[in-house]
Amino acid sequence: MNSFFSSVLPPPEDPVLSVYFASRDDPSPVKLNLSGGSYRTEEGKPLVLEVVRKAEQQLANDMSRNKEYLPLDGLADFNNLSAKLILGADSPALEEDRVVTIQCLSGTGSLRVGAEFLAKHHQERVIFVSNPTWGNHPLIFNLAGLSVEVYRYYDPKTRGLDFKGMLEDLSAAPSGAIVVLQACAHNPTGVDPTLDQWEQIRKLVRSKSLLPFFDNAYQGFASGSLDIDAKAVRMFVADGGECFIAQSFSKNMGLYGERIGALTIVCTSKDVARNVHSQVLLVVRPMYLSPPIHGASIVTTILKNSDMYKDWTIELKGMVSRIVSMRQQLYEALQARGTPGDWSNIIKQIGMFSFTGLNEKQIRFIAKEYHIYMTYDGRISMAGLSSKTVLIQLADAIHAAITQIA
Ligand SMILES: Cc1ncc(COP(=O)(O)O)c(C=O)c1O
Repeated sequence: MNSFFSSVLPPPEDPVLSVYFASRDDPSPVKLNLSGGSYRTEEGKPLVLEVVRKAEQQLANDMSRNKEYLPLDGLADFNNLSAKLILGADSPALEEDRVVTIQCLSGTGSLRVGAEFLAKHHQERVIFVSNPTWGNHPLIFNLAGLSVEVYRYYDPKTRGLDFKGMLEDLSAAPSGAIVVLQACAHNPTGVDPTLDQWEQIRKLVRSKSLLPFFDNAYQGFASGSLDIDAKAVRMFVADGGECFIAQSFSKNMGLYGERIGALTIVCTSKDVARNVHSQVLLVVRPMYLSPPIHGASIVTTILKNSDMYKDWTIELKGMVSRIVSMRQQLYEALQARGTPGDWSNIIKQIGMFSFTGLNEKQIRFIAKEYHIYMTYDGRISMAGLSSKTVLIQLADAIHAAITQIA
């Protein structure tokens, strides 16, 4: 029978998905997939935080709860608490009632709703993302009708920030352009600006009338402290100017599949915020009507209760220190093997990922010979490693790739 869709072409090869498929189809019992962005335990298993289990028990026992639709903008307590988490409980913007926060489908959904709103209501439709950036950024913004440009960010020579290049490119951006800034633990590079550099970025963004759009997917994952990781965002909010913030609880609460996050828009006045809020609701309504209830209830339960909040921060620190220890162990294992090159970037980089500097040939060699998979830009998830695999498999593989493949 003829199909209406016989002219539909297969999609172009996606570098991220192709790594996933190659790993999935590899029958080796020792295969290791380091391409994903989810935390794993020392045993290589997904982790559900104790405090999340406790909150879920509490919710399950509460017979007053029901499954009614949430309002278009989600659970009110969730929104208030999420805004406080990123802006700080004493934020003047909150006191002055000029902040709009709506519950969205995690970080991705928050970026998407923000992008749709901007495509409709912001005059300058150019949006700048770092080079490189999370692979979904350009797709999300293009789909919303924004035009995506890049600013220099990572310098492969120093394996650090190309700060000069970043400032030059942002200086040349048109007034009103939107700039996506990853709030901390930059994906994929693991390289963040220092606080002094953030201050210079802020001055430039404000003097050029650019609109900052923070992607805050890893709050707590850079330093282990939720407040320290919020410093860059708070610096921008403190100057009274506007900004967008896409917030996610996927990583820091391990709620990946619950799809829970928030879009916060800091406005210059209460009146502007009121109108912005009602227009954001018009973006949400035809898209998914109302967000899901479970993840928002978990987050709210934890953020509301000071004991649970404390337990969460301890578990979050535990995840971060395991990652830091993996960095140290990998670095030491490469030193012990005398692997040529400077590997100090592995301990200097921040957050879940490390940019190894391996080239595509070396990465394919490692996949073929050692059954270890990473994205073709050389990014590995440090959270996917354990002492055993770091020492035995990965360091051997990197050493072989560096010494045998140019
Ligand atoms: C930089 C960045 N932003 C946003 C996200 C979105 O994650 P989620 O939609 O699960 O919150 C990710 C996920 O890997 C990310 O790395």
